[in-house]
Amino acid sequence: MIHLLTVHDLHLAVRTGETLVPILRGINLNLPQGEVHGLVGESGAGKTMLGRVILNILPPNVVITAGHVDYGTTQPSLRSGGRVPDSPGRSGISLIPQDPMTALNPVKKIGKQMGEILKLVHTDSQRQIQERAEALLAEVRIKKPKEVLKQYPHHLSGGMRQRVLIAMAFSSEPGIIIADEPTTALDVSVQRRVLRLIRDLQNERNTTILFVTHDLGIVAKLCDKVSLMHSGMILEQGPVADVFHSPAHPYTRSLLKAIPRYDQPREKLSPVAEDLQAQLIHEAREYDQQRRV
Ligand SMILES: Nc1ncnc2c1ncn2[C@@H]1O[C@H](COP(=O)(O)OP(=O)(O)O)[C@@H](O)[C@H]1O
Ligand SMILES: [Mg+2]
Repeated sequence: MIHLLTVHDLHLAVRTGETLVPILRGINLNLPQGEVHGLVGESGAGKTMLGRVILNILPPNVVITAGHVDYGTTQPSLRSGGRVPDSPGRSGISLIPQDPMTALNPVKKIGKQMGEILKLVHTDSQRQIQERAEALLAEVRIKKPKEVLKQYPHHLSGGMRQRVLIAMAFSSEPGIIIADEPTTALDVSVQRRVLRLIRDLQNERNTTILFVTHDLGIVAKLCDKVSLMHSGMILEQGPVADVFHSPAHPYTRSLLKAIPRYDQPREKLSPVAEDLQAQLIHEAREYDQQRRV
C-alpha cells in the first residue's frame, strides 16, 4: 500500500511572546492512495492547523516543535524549523477551503482566477487554458460554464462558488486534497449536492482526501477511515465501520449518541459530554506538563 503522506508524532505550538502554547500534541496519521479520511472534532480541536501544516501554509507564529510530515519520496519532509517561507504550499496537495464567500478574489473574474491556477501546471496557450477551465466547470456540473467564466464571484451563489473552488482544487490533478469543512457554510440541500460531487470526483480519480468536519453523519456517508480529535490530540482512529460500531473512547461514544445529521438541525452535546470535555482539556494540560519534565 502506497502511503502518500505520513504524519509522525507531530507537535505544533503557537508562539506568544516568550512562551510556546501547544496546539497539536503528538499527531500520527497515514494517508494511503485513494483513502478518504475524516478528521472530526469540535471547534478549536486543531483540525485546520493539521491541514495547514500538511499544506505548509502555517501562520508565521505557529511552529513545529517535534515530529515531522513525510510526503513519500516526492518531496523533502517537513520538520521542526523546516518551513520554507518563500515557497508556501506543497505540490500535489490542494485545499478546498471552508468559506466559499471569502476564498475567491472578489475583484477578478472566475475565468482569470482559474486561469492563474491552471497556468501553474499547464503550459497551454491562453485559449487552451480557457477551454480547460470551461471543461472543469462542466465537470463540477456548472451549467453555462462559458458565461460563469466571465462573471465575478459576487454574481454566484455560495454553492456555485464552492463548485468553482472544488474545480480549482482538482485542476492541478493533486494526489491529496485537504477539504476543510467544505460544506459548513452552505445550505443543507446544497451541502448534499456538493458532498455528492466531491465523492464522485474522488471516485473517478482515486484522490486521497483528508475531509475535515465536525459532522459524524458526513463521515458515515463519505469516509473510509476516521480520526477523532480533541485538544490537539487524536483520541481514536480507525475504519469508519469499526469506530461507529464499537467506539473505544468515551468522547467518540458521546459524539455518536448525539450524532448530527446534515439534513437536520444540529443537536447540542449532552451535559455529560461537557464534563468529558473538561476532563479532556485537563488531560491535555497534564500531557504538556509531562513533556516539559
Ligand atoms: N492564526 C493563529 N495563530 C495562533 N493560534 C491559532 C491561529 N489559528 C488558530 N489558532 C489556535 O489553534 C488551535 C486550533 O485551531 P484550529 O486548527 O483552527 O481548530 P479547528 O479547525 O479544529 O476549529 C486553537 O486553540 C486556536 O485558538
Ligand atoms: Mg477549522
